[in-house]
Amino acid sequence: MNIENEIPLSEAQIAVHWREEGYFSPSPKFIGQANASDPSILERFAEDRFPECFVEYAELLSWDTYWNTVLDTSDPPFWKWFVGGRLNACYNCVDRHLQADRNKAALIWVPEPEDEPTRVVTYQELYRQVNEFAALLREYCGLKTGDRVTFHLPMVPELPVAMLACARLGVIHSEVFGGFSGTACGGRIADSGSRVLITMDAYQRGGQLIDHKVKADEAVAEAARNGQEVDKVLVFRRYPDKYSSDTPMVSGRDVFVDDVLPEYRGRVVEPVSMPAEAPLFLMYTSGTTGRPKGCEHSTGGYLAYVTGTSKYYQDIHPEDTYWCCADIGWITGHSYIVYGPLSLGTTSVLYEGAPTYPDAGRCWRIAERLHVDIFHTAPTTIRMLRKLGPDEPAKYDYHFKHMTTVGEPIEPEVWRWYHQVVGKGEAAVVDTWWQTETGGFLGSTLPALQPMKPGSCGPGALGIYPVIYDEDGGTVEPGSGRAGNICIRNPWPGVFQGIWHQPERFVDTYYRKYCRDKDSKDWHDWPYFAGDGAVQAEDGYFRILGRVDDVINVAGHRLGTKELESACLTVDEIAEAAAVPVVDEDRGRVVEMYVSLKPGLRPGKEVEDKVSAAIDREIGKIARPRHVWIVSDMPKTRSGKIMRRVIAGISNFADVGDVSTLANPEIVDDIRHHVQRAK
Ligand code: WTA
Repeated sequence: MNIENEIPLSEAQIAVHWREEGYFSPSPKFIGQANASDPSILERFAEDRFPECFVEYAELLSWDTYWNTVLDTSDPPFWKWFVGGRLNACYNCVDRHLQADRNKAALIWVPEPEDEPTRVVTYQELYRQVNEFAALLREYCGLKTGDRVTFHLPMVPELPVAMLACARLGVIHSEVFGGFSGTACGGRIADSGSRVLITMDAYQRGGQLIDHKVKADEAVAEAARNGQEVDKVLVFRRYPDKYSSDTPMVSGRDVFVDDVLPEYRGRVVEPVSMPAEAPLFLMYTSGTTGRPKGCEHSTGGYLAYVTGTSKYYQDIHPEDTYWCCADIGWITGHSYIVYGPLSLGTTSVLYEGAPTYPDAGRCWRIAERLHVDIFHTAPTTIRMLRKLGPDEPAKYDYHFKHMTTVGEPIEPEVWRWYHQVVGKGEAAVVDTWWQTETGGFLGSTLPALQPMKPGSCGPGALGIYPVIYDEDGGTVEPGSGRAGNICIRNPWPGVFQGIWHQPERFVDTYYRKYCRDKDSKDWHDWPYFAGDGAVQAEDGYFRILGRVDDVINVAGHRLGTKELESACLTVDEIAEAAAVPVVDEDRGRVVEMYVSLKPGLRPGKEVEDKVSAAIDREIGKIARPRHVWIVSDMPKTRSGKIMRRVIAGISNFADVGDVSTLANPEIVDDIRHHVQRAK
C-alpha cells in the first residue's frame, strides 16, 4: 500500500497490529424506539434497488416539484440526483415545521462563559431571523441567486441563521472555520469570488474574548492580493450593547449587522424554488496541492442524504435534544448540526466554546441541564475528556440513548471508555466514517440492526457499496487482513458535485485512479477514490487506517502537506520544507515540520519560531507544528522529490522502508541521530 505520508506501516505490519474486537449490542430499550429497527430496510437499499432506493430519503423532504430522473449519469462523474425536482433547503429546515412546532426550540445556544444565559431560538424565531437577514442580504448587499458569500463565523446562532438565509435566496454560502487565519479566509474568498464577507467582532474561547474582526481585515487584504475585491463586510456583535473588538471598522465597507437589521424588521422573503442540482454551499478542504478545494454540494441530493442519514444513523426524532459537539465550520457541522437535524425538526444544541472549559465536566453539565439524549463528537475530544476527567461523567445526571463519533479512527480502548463511562453502558455508539466531499456518512452501523465493534466504523451505509482496491485495481477480499485503498463503487445523493471552478482536478483526484473506461456512462466504471487506507474484516466491517494522500488529519482537521510547506517557505531563511504526521496520544496525529536553510545560514530557535508564526498566519493555530526540525538536507529521490515517508518513519521511530534508491541515503542516519536524540 502506498502510504507515502502516513505512518509507513507495510501491509504485513498492519496484519500483525490487527486484532479482532468483539461485538456490542444496544439495549432493547434503544431498539424499541429506533427509527430503523425493521431489517427490511437493508433489503430496500440492496444493490438491485439502486438508485431508486434513495427516493426513500428524498421523500423525507418537501418538494415544490418532483423529479423526473432519480439519477442522471450522462456526464460521468458529474452525477446528478433528482433531476427536474425543485425545492428550497431553508423551507425544509424552517418553514415546514412551523405549523406543528412553531414554538419548539430549533437551536439552543450555550455560550462559553457559564454565567451567560443560554439562548433558545424557536422555529418561529428562527423563521423571523432568517427572513429578516435574507431581506438584508438581498437589499443591503444586493445578493442574488447563484452569488457566493463567505462567512468567517465562530460557533454562534448567527451562523446557522446566515446559512439558512442564503439557502432561502439560493445564494451559495462558504463558511470558513473561525479558527483559520485571516489569510486562509482571504484565499477562500478569492477562490469563490465572494464580494461579501460576514464575520463577528469577537467570540469566547478557552476563557478568552478573542478579537475576530482583526482577521476580517487580513482576509479582505489577502483576497485583494488575489484579485477579489470585497465591498461589504457585515459584522455581527458578540455583545450587541458593547463593542468588543479593538479593530476599527472601515467606513463604507464595514457595518454592524445590528445597526442595519432593524430596517428589515418583520420582513418576509419568499423561499426561492431551486433546482435539485443547484449548489447549496461550498466547503473548502485541503488536498494534495497548495490550493484548497471548494467542494460544491447540491441542494436536493445533499439535503436528502443528510436528512436520511440523520434519521437512520443518528436516530434523530423530532422530540430529541441532539447535541453535535463540533464546529459548524467543518462539514460535520453543516450536515449534522444544521441541515440534517433541522430538516427533521429536532432541537439542535450549539456550544460556543472549548469542551474542556472551564473543566472536564462542562460537556456533562450541559447534557444534564438541557436533557441532551443524542451526543455526537470526535475521537480527539473523547481522548481529551478521558484524560482530563475520566470520572466526570458519573457525577452528572444525564442519559444518552445514542452517541456518535466522527473524524478519525477511534482506538478500541477509547471507544470502550466512551461507551461505558460517557454512555453509561446505555447508549448505542455509532462510528461514522465519511468526508467533506461525501456530504454524509459512508461507513457506519445502523444502531438497532448492526452490532457495534470498537475501532471499526462498520459496513457501507445504506445504499453505499464500498470496496478495497490494491494499487493495481485488484479487489482486496474481506477477511484477507490486507490493507488497501477504500473506494465507493457507486454514486450517492450526498456526493459533492465538483470542485469550484476546477473540474479536471475533481475528476483527477477522485475518479481517475480506478476509472475503468473514461468514455463509459455506466457508474460501475467510475469508483470514487476516498484517499483513505482501510482493512475489511470477514464480517464486512471496515477499519479505517488514515489518509494515503498528502493530507494529515490532526485532531480530525484535514491539513494539506503542501499548504503547510508553502507557509514555511514564506520565511526568508527557509530553502526547503516537509510536513509529516506523527502519532500523538491525544490528537491522533500532529504535524512535525522539517526545514532546511538557505546556504550560509545558521540554525537557531529564532528560525523555528518564525516557521511556527508563518503557519499561524497562513493557516491558523490548529496547524501549528509540534516541532520544527532544522536539518542540513532532506532525503530525496534521484529526481529530487523529498521523501516524506522516510522522514515520517524517523519522526515516529518506525521503519523508514527502503532507502537504497535515494540520491543521498547517508542523510537518513544524520537526521535520525539529530531527531531521535532530541526527542
Ligand atoms: C477521516 C470529516 C476513521 C478520514 C467528516 C477521512 C475517519 C477524513 C472517520 C475526512 C472515522 C473521518 N474513522 N477516520 N469514523 N471519519 N475520518 O473531510 O481519513 O474533515 O478521509 O470530514 O477524516 O475528513 P473531513
